[in-house]
Amino acid sequence: MTDTNKNHLSWDEWDELQNPPPAVTDFDLVVERAVSRRGFLGILAMGSAAAAMGTVGNLLNSTSAQAQEAASRFPFKPIAIATDNTVHVPEGYSWQPLAKWGQPLFSGVADIDPVNGVSLEASDKVFGENTDGMELFMVGNSQLIAVNHEYVNNETNLPHNEKGMPKSLDDVKILQHMQGVTVMEVTEGENGWQIVVDSKFNRRIHHNTPMRLSGPAAGSDLVKTAADPAGIDCLGTFNNCGAGKTPWGTYLTCEENFNGYFGTTTADFKLPDDYKRYGIVAETRYGYELFDERFDVSKNPNEPRRAGYVVEIDPSDASSTPIKRTALGRIKHENAAVVEARDGRVVVYMGDDERGEFLYKYVSNGIYVPGGDTSKLLDEGTLYVAKFSDEGTGEWLALTPETTGMKLDEIYVFTRQAASKVGATTMDRPEWVATNPVAIEAYCCLTNNSNRAVLKDGKMKTNAGGDVLELNAVNPREANEYGQIVRWYPENNDHADGKFKWDLFLMAGNPVVHKDAYAGSSNINEGNMFNSPDGMMFDSTGLLWIQTDGEDSNEGDYAGQGNNQMLAGDPVTGRIERFLTAPKGAEVTGQTWSADKRTHFVGIQHPDAPFPDGEGKLPRSTIIAIKKDDNARIG
Ligand code: FEO
Ligand code: CA
Ligand code: CA
Ligand code: CA
Repeated sequence: MTDTNKNHLSWDEWDELQNPPPAVTDFDLVVERAVSRRGFLGILAMGSAAAAMGTVGNLLNSTSAQAQEAASRFPFKPIAIATDNTVHVPEGYSWQPLAKWGQPLFSGVADIDPVNGVSLEASDKVFGENTDGMELFMVGNSQLIAVNHEYVNNETNLPHNEKGMPKSLDDVKILQHMQGVTVMEVTEGENGWQIVVDSKFNRRIHHNTPMRLSGPAAGSDLVKTAADPAGIDCLGTFNNCGAGKTPWGTYLTCEENFNGYFGTTTADFKLPDDYKRYGIVAETRYGYELFDERFDVSKNPNEPRRAGYVVEIDPSDASSTPIKRTALGRIKHENAAVVEARDGRVVVYMGDDERGEFLYKYVSNGIYVPGGDTSKLLDEGTLYVAKFSDEGTGEWLALTPETTGMKLDEIYVFTRQAASKVGATTMDRPEWVATNPVAIEAYCCLTNNSNRAVLKDGKMKTNAGGDVLELNAVNPREANEYGQIVRWYPENNDHADGKFKWDLFLMAGNPVVHKDAYAGSSNINEGNMFNSPDGMMFDSTGLLWIQTDGEDSNEGDYAGQGNNQMLAGDPVTGRIERFLTAPKGAEVTGQTWSADKRTHFVGIQHPDAPFPDGEGKLPRSTIIAIKKDDNARIG
């Protein structure tokens, strides 16, 4: 594959290409199991594991009757798949663009020029590219949206450069500015929703914005650099994927595939051993390292260890310094789902999106008191990783010096390695976690895993740390191309509890093409099928909104699934219905609601064809605002 083609890949696809897993490890028992092809259906028949899969079985049996009774839970008429270049929503709803890649946040700044891209001067004053996780905040009477810009397409931002590769530090800065986070005020008027240009809240945070490390890794030798000998003051937040919101009104932006920005100009530089687990390699997609020494790991080997965190941003103060909360671990963070424990401690659930990586939970030491000091709640606490049993139970394993044999700062810089040491369960790429506002339960999208229980040269594939990707009850399908959503119920109805029960809310699949486990669970049918669940949030009524980032060829195993989409799920019945279809090539990711819950904001990332401006225009990643025509509440 050429570099040019790589620029057309989504970040996840690119990262998979860059990071082929280490071939295999020796684990005869597991190999034997895989060879015998006791996959999903096999596990169903396997003694104790059958109990766990019984949770799917229950869903299979009960869903259809209950779903019919609960029809009124769905306030919309489900829509069919689409394969075209625009967005579709149900009858009685409409959508309009709110914010498009390159749209000015300040006056005196030009909208993006499709021929010349964005100028350096404008590049940190416009809405960035590739919208992702978002949250809405009320500050006084102002509605603010904080939203991530996950990555950029080089060629469209540097249209005059061969393959979009930077030829100068200025070119690098343009790319750096078009990613990160936007905070913007939005308002609804006669012409619908708009950005409030020049609002005092409007702000771009990007790859050069000053920020601060805090928590257990701050000040560690592992994060010190020549420019920051104290290991505290860093620049930039990277590959901002999903998001979260604290009860005290701050935004959490999550650094996912940060590895892809760091390279080297020194061909014979030996990469430190810890790089491998995070996929930090010599080649980068962007070429930052050619002009910006900070990204050359031969000169700044600790710089990548200052990325991969959850970053807290105060959207109410455009001059505030974002804080990298190292206590939440260094992984390829998808999102950060914040919920309060029964006693007021703060619990944050987090997925690490890579094949065979883990699901995490942080629990604060202190409790949240409205109006009280919240500055240490995301610094002082315990980080846990999930271990699922095949019996439908699970436990949260604490990552401490005692359990891992690692020093405290090492746990928070090399979190993946720590989690492997305690025997966490390898997962099928944990994407967003969502917690139900009307029940004590949480959900995580396991988007897919092409390596699950796959053999190479007679041995089973592993994650980058050598943990074998054998089948287990929560990840029960070999070469899992469709994904599933796992749900857990904390013991004692307390998110801080160390134990939980779990089941599978759904297994995506294609019941037309397959009649086995790849058909999916029984709440998946010809009318609502999809693949690769990814973004996910609950609305305030307890409906679950699922967004997909999958294969949209509409062919072969994906025939009948159309473009990426957003569906609503009923946690009580398991019923799933399609609400939205995206333009061809786009993924649907990120969502939030207006303060009055009459508008649902949804992110449309990396469309292929001209969207939303129509033929002859640039494809632009866009936040759309969806309303019901009668202006009823929809969230
Ligand atoms: Fe940025 Fe895992 O999605
Ligand atoms: Ca993606
Ligand atoms: Ca995602
Ligand atoms: Ca994804």
